[in-house]
Amino acid sequence: MIISRLILKNWRNFQSVDVPLQERIILVGPNASGKSNLLDVFRFLRDIAKDGGGLQKAVADRGRLPKIRCLSARRSSNVEVEIHLAESSEEPVKWKYAIGITQEKGGKRRPILVYEKVWSGNELIIDRPDEHDKEDAQRLTQTHLEQINSNLLFREIAAFLTTIQYMHLVPQLLRYPDAFPGQDMPGDPFGKRFLEDLARTSDKTRSTRLNKIESALHDVVPQLKELSFIKDETGAPHLEAVYTHWRPKAGKQREDQFSDGTLRLIALLWSLQEGKSLLLLEEPELSLNAGIVSKLAPMISRLQRQTKRQVMLSTHSPDLLSDKGIGGEDVLLLIPGPEGTEVQVATSQKEINDLLEGGLSIADALLPITNPQRALSSWGI
Ligand SMILES: Nc1ncnc2c1ncn2[C@@H]1O[C@H](COP(=O)(O)OP(=O)(O)O)[C@@H](O)[C@H]1O
Ligand SMILES: [Mg+2]
Repeated sequence: MIISRLILKNWRNFQSVDVPLQERIILVGPNASGKSNLLDVFRFLRDIAKDGGGLQKAVADRGRLPKIRCLSARRSSNVEVEIHLAESSEEPVKWKYAIGITQEKGGKRRPILVYEKVWSGNELIIDRPDEHDKEDAQRLTQTHLEQINSNLLFREIAAFLTTIQYMHLVPQLLRYPDAFPGQDMPGDPFGKRFLEDLARTSDKTRSTRLNKIESALHDVVPQLKELSFIKDETGAPHLEAVYTHWRPKAGKQREDQFSDGTLRLIALLWSLQEGKSLLLLEEPELSLNAGIVSKLAPMISRLQRQTKRQVMLSTHSPDLLSDKGIGGEDVLLLIPGPEGTEVQVATSQKEINDLLEGGLSIADALLPITNPQRALSSWGI
């Protein structure tokens, strides 16, 4: 399943967003245009739906509602999020889920629901506030999404949202988890527990996945061979590979010797195979050289075709956008303005669309619409 449309009102620096989403989504925009904020909508929904989560915690983890509500919105405006889900971008809508949130006027100023609606196809099956909510306003501090007793009719949405994954791997955390004590982040977005995750996976699944990673890496890191999982004499898990180099004897290396870029790639390719729900990737090009970055998009697509996992990534890299396989409908442009950032599908801009149809890559098609002096940098790429 994929999220096939996103509609927002007053979410952080976006006053109003309504965009279709494909199997692969690439967010392009200048610094501080809201790429991370847009990814955060999906993490927010996950945080509401997951075990031990809920609306109160999801908002509290982000400060308070006024922090989430767009600064250019009127003070009393609601924060609204609506998603549509479908089996693929070609299929009709299977589910819709929408919430509006405001803050209690007095007292604890808790976030409360203005509405919560669920549609199965186009049939409205949950429509709150309902009679029970009118009798007991406390109920509006919780969504049905977070309540097992109340989400029976639409548990597929809850299951999908719970398994949304966000990844922004920090290689040093993966290599030296014990050097960074403190509470682990839910969902392990920075890869601190990546090796433990490998250790928990069954031998068969793990070796299938590592084989796929090795062959995906073949073109970009040809020196790396025989990628495997081992446990050292203390039982600690490691990744190991034979690394061929100019010295005649190839040596074995462990993850502490892999380059930052190689580690990020391995973790990215692992994640692509790990789940079925939306995968959010923050700037996957970090620490990779231009040659590899230009192959990232096709590499992700190849694995994605097997796993059918929807991927949304933010990027700063013209090299990533230079791949001609990236369609204009896959690219969302974040365009900052005085009233907040607008989000547009690249093909909705005629000038860009004409250039794409003329055979240019996204990177080249974005060039002329930007100020020549600032060139791509005004798009943050
Ligand atoms: N509630 C809000 N209303 C308006 N702007 C906000 C809100 N919350 C955060 N921002 C702004 O969003 C910007 C950061 O966006 P971010 O997603 O980090 O950008 P990017 O990832 O594209 O660099 C900052 O300029 C910040 O001030
Ligand atoms: Mg960011």
